[in-house]
Amino acid sequence: MDYTNLVLPKHLGIIMDGNGRWATEKQLTRSQGHKAGAKNLKRLLTYIYDKKIPCVSIYAFSTENFKRDKKEVDYLMKLFITIFQKEFLSLKEKGVKVVFSGRKENIPKDVLNAMEKLEQETKDNKQGILNICLNYGGQYEIVDMTQKIVEQILEGKITKEEITKEWIEKNLYQQLPPLDFVIHTSGELRTSNFMIYQSAYAEYYFPKTYFPDFNEEQLDIAILEYNKRKRRFGGN
Ligand code: IPE
Ligand code: IPE
Ligand code: MG
Repeated sequence: MDYTNLVLPKHLGIIMDGNGRWATEKQLTRSQGHKAGAKNLKRLLTYIYDKKIPCVSIYAFSTENFKRDKKEVDYLMKLFITIFQKEFLSLKEKGVKVVFSGRKENIPKDVLNAMEKLEQETKDNKQGILNICLNYGGQYEIVDMTQKIVEQILEGKITKEEITKEWIEKNLYQQLPPLDFVIHTSGELRTSNFMIYQSAYAEYYFPKTYFPDFNEEQLDIAILEYNKRKRRFGGN
């Protein structure tokens, strides 16, 4: 679809949900569902940056996802390494800068290494930003931000009065524009703890499609829907 005359989100969020149900319906394993999701992600991101959407945040693994079976968690961690080392080569070539949001604790060392390498290799890229939320929880981001602030108060670097909205935003995991549009696939009607601060005025979209099937055409439909929304930000 031609995007030229459309309003594009400056920051798009994608909660990539439904891999497990996609697989179960096809009598496949949950792992096969995650693999299909990863394959779709690669294609979808290429399309998104070709269409000149400048900043994308994706929800890859939540802090709460550690509650799942060890086998599934282990599979996902291995899959992340493959994605970061192989599948994202094309994004690197496109000039996309990759950053990560979330807690480092509990992430296996080899995954952390792959994350650091990807961040390092793409740090000077200017053609787009990909923020990968991995071991990420919106509530923990607020906890971590609060700890950073208290630390700075205790060190005498700032006073209570200096804590403003802008200042809070400087202490989140990443300094990105606010989310304009958040897509949560699979028909779930909730935020699932995804970037809750940054999505204060985001438009939400809840397609029934499971993530492995959320393809370029589905994104076109989503962007057309975004163009129908009347954003007011509390004004009239
Ligand atoms: C999303 O798919 C992927 C992750 C949470 C890592 P799910 O695994 O949540 O799939 P469903 O919701 O069980 O279908
Ligand atoms: C949200 O999906 C997290 C990711 C997509 C990584 P979940 O499957 O964990 O969300 P809930 O539990 O259905 O809210
Ligand atoms: Mg799910």
